[in-house]
Amino acid sequence: MFGISIESMNNNPIIVALDASTPGEIEFLCEQLSGHVGMFKLGFESIYSMGSAALDIVATFGNVFYDCKLHDIPNTVAAASRQIAGYRGVGMFNVHALGGSDMMRASVEAATEVGGDSRPIVLAVTLLTSVEQNDLDAMGLSISKTELVPRLAVLAQEAGCDGVVAAVEDVAAVRKATGKGFKIVTPGIRPAGSAAGDQKRIATPSQAMDAGSDYLVIGRPITQAEDPVVAAKGILRELEDSKVSN
Ligand code: C5P
Repeated sequence: MFGISIESMNNNPIIVALDASTPGEIEFLCEQLSGHVGMFKLGFESIYSMGSAALDIVATFGNVFYDCKLHDIPNTVAAASRQIAGYRGVGMFNVHALGGSDMMRASVEAATEVGGDSRPIVLAVTLLTSVEQNDLDAMGLSISKTELVPRLAVLAQEAGCDGVVAAVEDVAAVRKATGKGFKIVTPGIRPAGSAAGDQKRIATPSQAMDAGSDYLVIGRPITQAEDPVVAAKGILRELEDSKVSN
């Protein structure tokens, strides 16, 4: 089985970031949250500690956003994309837009070779949210961050990517530049009253959706909650309530 269409998320925009390093933790969270979230995200911690074993576990519970952030020469990224698109359960994976148009296009083409119309969604990371204007200046990149992010999103779109990962502050500009239908996935989500932790630019679930996000990556507010299912349901309720009042 190849990638799973986004429709199978049942209109649930929550992508829960598992961020765990043992099979037991992953299994425990998936068991609880299966049916209450749209997708499960596996990031570097899980990928580098467990490899594809993490995917095998999660795929038995639902679809996976494989947050592998590929960035290498096109040939190498294409080879990795072919492998990822062939894993059972991967519904989404990502590449860095700063790897260039040829690299992004190679990834999409490789995923399509393997999965055809049901290939995983390929997202581009525009600019890491940890990169500040002074970092760009130090690199000699004479462009403002606010200009660069939508520009990278358009390059990703032109290269065939299905969407981008964007911080809430960039969502409106990315939506304006790329139009409807281009997927925007937003991390840094904190339901009202929950701890920001190390996230600097946060938004509530409804603020992010109102800005134009399609999917929300949410980790600790769900995974560290006393009851993760109650936390996920609370977020969905907040989204429903905000739809009614809009
Ligand atoms: O626990 P929390 O909700 O902060 O988790 C957010 C998840 O989204 C983490 O897996 C983190 O790596 C990821 N992420 C992020 N900011 C980005 C890109 C990804 O927080 N710009």
